[in-house]
Amino acid sequence: MNKKIKTLIFIIMALVIAILVLYPNKFNRYVHRQIRTYKTKPKGVLENVKFQKIELGKSAEGQYTSLIIGPDHKLYANSIDGKIKRFLIQPSGELKLEHTFKTFGDEQRLTIGLVFDPASTRDSLVVWTTFSETSSGWIDLPNAPKNIDKTIWAGRLSRLQLSSTSDSILKNELVLTDLPRFGPNNENFANSIVFGPDRKLYFGQGANTGMGWCDCEENQEPSREALLSATILTLELNKLPNVLPLSVKTIDGGGIYEPYNENAPLKIYATGIRNPYDLVWHSNGELYTTINGSGGDENTPSSDPMSEQYTPPYSKIHYKGPKNIPAITNAHPDQNDFMARVKKNGYYGHPNPLRAEYVLNYGDESLDNFEYNSIAPDENFRGFTYNFGPHVAPTGVIEYRSDNFQGKLQGCLIVARMGKNDLIILKPGGDKNDIIQDYDGSKLGLQINGGPLDLVEDKKTGNIYVSGFGSNKIILFHPTEKQSDMITLKNTDKSKSINISGKKLYQENCQICHGANAKGGLGPNLADDQWIYGKEKIYYIIRNGSENGKMTAWKDKLTNNQIKSVEKYILSL
Ligand code: HEC
Repeated sequence: MNKKIKTLIFIIMALVIAILVLYPNKFNRYVHRQIRTYKTKPKGVLENVKFQKIELGKSAEGQYTSLIIGPDHKLYANSIDGKIKRFLIQPSGELKLEHTFKTFGDEQRLTIGLVFDPASTRDSLVVWTTFSETSSGWIDLPNAPKNIDKTIWAGRLSRLQLSSTSDSILKNELVLTDLPRFGPNNENFANSIVFGPDRKLYFGQGANTGMGWCDCEENQEPSREALLSATILTLELNKLPNVLPLSVKTIDGGGIYEPYNENAPLKIYATGIRNPYDLVWHSNGELYTTINGSGGDENTPSSDPMSEQYTPPYSKIHYKGPKNIPAITNAHPDQNDFMARVKKNGYYGHPNPLRAEYVLNYGDESLDNFEYNSIAPDENFRGFTYNFGPHVAPTGVIEYRSDNFQGKLQGCLIVARMGKNDLIILKPGGDKNDIIQDYDGSKLGLQINGGPLDLVEDKKTGNIYVSGFGSNKIILFHPTEKQSDMITLKNTDKSKSINISGKKLYQENCQICHGANAKGGLGPNLADDQWIYGKEKIYYIIRNGSENGKMTAWKDKLTNNQIKSVEKYILSL
């Protein structure tokens, strides 16, 4: 071998070894991350599952944080400023605004969770809602309190009784106050609410910091975790005191609420859950939640009492773990977003020194910072059941219950990915009910421009309603197993409604026989100027088929309008 080449190979090998020796973690992380990014692309294939997308008209416009369907089979949408809108569900699936409930009169409050009490009936409509007593950097509400004391514990939970015949709120009861949301700048709140099979109420309580220690920027003060933050909380209604509201401010904020008492109505169900936007109790008995991971350049707490980034844990928590978990400043990289299959008392990776939880996510594996080399995950860390990758912002999640598509979607979780403008489908299974398969919803038509936030299924039809938070709309996804399932809208402004183009109809129904671009195949060429039956007969032939039966009739599968638009497409070729 040429001497020069030998020297070159030697230099390259020396460089690789040097990188491995000097930056083992970085190199390892780099490879890992490439594999992980590759791994987070959904891979499953769902044949013959398709949804028709319908943007609902003006009367459904709004920025909705929760969509639910009531015992009266009407759709209720919580708008971010605290109004609850009730829509009639038309036979076509379209929504017609019936009533708007002004939970806060002419005032506004940043509102997220909405759920029906399990005891509700069509005549007794009781809902629970979570909101914040402040404005937020996330959205500016002109009629919300301004310049309020930044130290206020701003999270609230209310119970409302809505009239079934008018827009009046029969009862509006504040149940919990002082949930740990400090200051007007932060972005994580008391989130979506669900009822469990045990009839207890569950909701996600966001974190106050990026990675467990203060963000330590002046405009974010005070930012620190509280005893109840970054959790799933659970409320036992029969333990609530007679006099409401109940303040749940804990001792770290100068309050007296004691969540670890046996008789406490509000308890911590699981911890370390950074920003659980939504959660679902699946019919398989598991609780799943979507978690927004932290961005980078954030700070973690230390377990070493001598560290400056140390706070002693709450008196009832006795830490027996290692004392050498380092504090990280400017931790990187940005963390992934995850789904957790939440177990009672499990820890899910967002540190909180008050609960003596110090290690971020998987420890060493999650951070590039060399101080984290060989740091093991927290003893109680349960890992995640699905990795969305970074910057996906998974928000709303439902379990799909309808059995259309031969039950292919039944029991699947459908998650809105705000950062990706689509829905993703996750199938739980196996002996642990972990996610065993993922499907790219955009391939099934489940795509939205403008930030999908929450979603709900109408179990009677399998229709899915999605709130397009960025686009100010509700979008209806209608399952279409065959062409005849397509909805043709009557009430909405036509220009905005589906109007599946002739080309698309052609591709879906005719292409197999007439070929791509209609150049012919099993059936004759439709793109030239020669017609067996004549140009003026095209519509008639598509509708009724040809006499010899080789070309089938489409009148039962396509509407007249759809036939017209395919005809138009063919003539345009
Ligand atoms: C199963 C195969 C098949 C499918 C699917 C099919 N066609 Fe045909 N089509 C044929 C055949 C074969 C003929 C020729 C019939 C004949 O000779 O009488 C034909 C004839 C026609 C003609 C008449 C052509 C002429 O020259 O007069 C039109 C128009 C047409 N098809 C349109 C469509 C459209 C639009 C669709 C979809 C909605 C469609 N076809 C789907 C097989 C098919």
